[in-house]
Amino acid sequence: MKWIVANTYDAMSRWAADIVLDIVRQNPRAVLGLATGATPIGLYEALVRDKRENGTDYSQITCVNLDEYCGLPETHTQSYAYFMRHHLLDALEIPRAHAFIENGMAEDAMEECRRYDALLDKHPRDIQILGIGSNGHIAFNEPGTSFDKTTHVISLAESTIRDNARFFSSVDEVPTRAFTMGPKSILASKKILILASGSGKAKAVLDTLTGPVTEDVPASCLQTHPDCTLICDEAAAALLPAEWKAGVGV
Ligand code: GLP
Repeated sequence: MKWIVANTYDAMSRWAADIVLDIVRQNPRAVLGLATGATPIGLYEALVRDKRENGTDYSQITCVNLDEYCGLPETHTQSYAYFMRHHLLDALEIPRAHAFIENGMAEDAMEECRRYDALLDKHPRDIQILGIGSNGHIAFNEPGTSFDKTTHVISLAESTIRDNARFFSSVDEVPTRAFTMGPKSILASKKILILASGSGKAKAVLDTLTGPVTEDVPASCLQTHPDCTLICDEAAAALLPAEWKAGVGV
């Protein structure tokens, strides 16, 4: 697993954008795996800025998202479907028919997971973008999730509900369950880019990069992927050993 310590959040976002843009320019039909959360917003802003300045074409790009809250319709401002349209998809003019996410309102959850797994098989990802939870979760795979899981429904950890309450008017409004790609689905992507920013992620970054591969730290499964890069800012790198903080490592 490679890692890059960028000086700032902006530098981290620009670095990530360069990697994504390389893929999009080389292959106008690329499949991008996308993530929500505050962390990738700077990356998405950089892609939107590039589209405005350079006219990069996304008309044939396909996007698949990691996860969605159970019980939120796509019109809800805190649904991940809404987040993606608002922060990225509309500005890049990605056709609605090319953008996929789990249906948080699906009545038959098992069937929805099967549908999403089939969709992921049909659209193999060239790159998967990830954020990381303060407890080491990726997508909504909470500590203890089997690395063999594909798309499934999960009960959110108390700490995740607390962390995500900042996006809702109260903690009681945060859904307690979500659809999520599993670790196995994430690892199927050709390339993986995981972003981490801020001191709240420092312990998760330390465990992900230097700890054992264990289901107690979902992101540690990324150590087993042949082409995964973690990019973080200095605050998120704070607990790494001094020699790891120097910049770029393999
Ligand atoms: C949520 C999402 C994750 C995301 C995490 C961290 O739980 N399901 O995909 O990585 O939050 O979010 P943030 O970047 O806002 O810290």
